[in-house]
Amino acid sequence: MIKEYMTHDHRECDNLYAPLEEALSAGDFEKALELFVPFKRAMLKHFAMEEEVLFPKMEEFMGGGEGPIYVMKMEHSQIRSIIDQLGEAIENKNQQKALGLGETFMIMTQQHNMKEEQILYTMAEQLPIDKEKTLEEMKKVEAS
Ligand SMILES: [Fe+2]
Ligand SMILES: [Fe+2]
Repeated sequence: MIKEYMTHDHRECDNLYAPLEEALSAGDFEKALELFVPFKRAMLKHFAMEEEVLFPKMEEFMGGGEGPIYVMKMEHSQIRSIIDQLGEAIENKNQQKALGLGETFMIMTQQHNMKEEQILYTMAEQLPIDKEKTLEEMKKVEAS
């Protein structure tokens, strides 16, 4: 159920990004800025659910170090940086830059999400963690 919930949340984030990209393609920066806010909030909340709750719980059984969780956290920080740069490009009304960053965001996020959906979340389901409690704690996390 962690896997289903988080996979669904990936799609929700995609659904918030799609209209933003449309607004950028149309050169509508006012709308893009409006759409950027909920998109960024959803992405940061998703990352926080993983970094603050899910990953630490998994690490109790898998150990820390430079394993798959370490790679996921590194990718989060790369994607966060792209999101910040995208926000700046939108504020500066730089359409070409914003579209380029949007494309980079999409590619990186799709690859990242695929790894989580196929590997990480499946591992989480197999570990002896309290899934229901973990999911409840994840839902309470605030975007940071
Ligand atoms: Fe992630
Ligand atoms: Fe994720």
